[in-house]
Amino acid sequence: MVARAIDIPIDIQSYARLDDEQCAARIRAVKAALGDRLLILGHHYQREEVFRHADVSGDSLKLSRQAARSRARYIVFCGVHFMAEVADILSRPEQVVILPDLAAGCSMADMADRVKVERAWRELGAVLDVEREVTPVTYINSAADLKAFCGRHGGIVCTSSNARAILEWAWARREKVLFFPDEHLGRNTAHAMGVPLEDMVVWDFNQPRGGLSREQIRRARLILWKGFCSVHQMFRPEHIDRFLERYPEARVISHPEASFEVCRKSHYVGSTEYIIRTIAEAEPGSRWLVGTELNLVKRLAERHRHEGKAVHFMSPTICMCSTMFRIDPQHLLWALENLVHGQVVNRITVPQAEAEAARSALQRMLEL
Ligand code: 13P
Ligand code: SF4
Repeated sequence: MVARAIDIPIDIQSYARLDDEQCAARIRAVKAALGDRLLILGHHYQREEVFRHADVSGDSLKLSRQAARSRARYIVFCGVHFMAEVADILSRPEQVVILPDLAAGCSMADMADRVKVERAWRELGAVLDVEREVTPVTYINSAADLKAFCGRHGGIVCTSSNARAILEWAWARREKVLFFPDEHLGRNTAHAMGVPLEDMVVWDFNQPRGGLSREQIRRARLILWKGFCSVHQMFRPEHIDRFLERYPEARVISHPEASFEVCRKSHYVGSTEYIIRTIAEAEPGSRWLVGTELNLVKRLAERHRHEGKAVHFMSPTICMCSTMFRIDPQHLLWALENLVHGQVVNRITVPQAEAEAARSALQRMLEL
């Protein structure tokens, strides 16, 4: 029995003094002590010092599937808040989901909230019969209450790896899609499916009726929420041009959260898992320019160096996801050692009514 009940959670302050290697040794000891009662999930954007402790790593879709399948008592999510919420929604009631640092949010997810989305739905409802004509689709990078909104209104969740199949599903049911919070993922995916740009409009959530006329709304097939990722918006088409001038034989691969112009200039566009797989399967000696988060790009460069593959980061400025970076070995160890002492810190729980509606939107996605 490793648990020893104490009254007060162990204080995070005492962990700030530990270096990463001290943390690593103690994390390994806790993992050994908790055995299969513990599952550590790690998103690809996690820093290496945390990522190496993950039992399962993956993109949002893979990690949400893993959370649904897990039997572990404790799921410690090294990722961001919306991912831990999904793990809580999909896991069983007796399972406990922990986010080592509660400040690990997602600035894109914060660009849409329930008040704004419900207002948009009402305003669209003044022009259209929304329940018959519009499917709400939320990117998994969104708060649980927006997934619940989609669950209640016949909508669905998507990730960057299944957005195409989800849009096909949505359009097979209703004529229009309201897509939030990422404008770029929606546009890039729909355009790759052959939907012309004229069929898409951008909903500016700071303007009455999204800044659109009734006519624009009536004509649109895809209504894109004006949200974006602060990391992926840093990549610019001129970065690609400059790189290809220097290395004309190189390949360019980008995440679909990058802008339309960047994705159009990229040879390949896809989720983090897709990027990893494409570079892994590429011929030795190939050269890659990669438009996604820095920690993943650095890991890929390291992993494939011995095969003679050169992997470059797209932006000249350092742009990593600062909220993913909040999870450090010190917070991870703090959360784990509290568990050993019978204390749960930073538990993520989605209220039941919301979780049920969100689960139905997530299940629709997972069944596809
Ligand atoms: P993936 O779905 O590719 O894991 O991306 C999640 C994310 O937050 C990208 O910025
Ligand atoms: Fe959110 Fe962008 Fe960070 Fe992904 S990279 S978690 S979209 S802020």
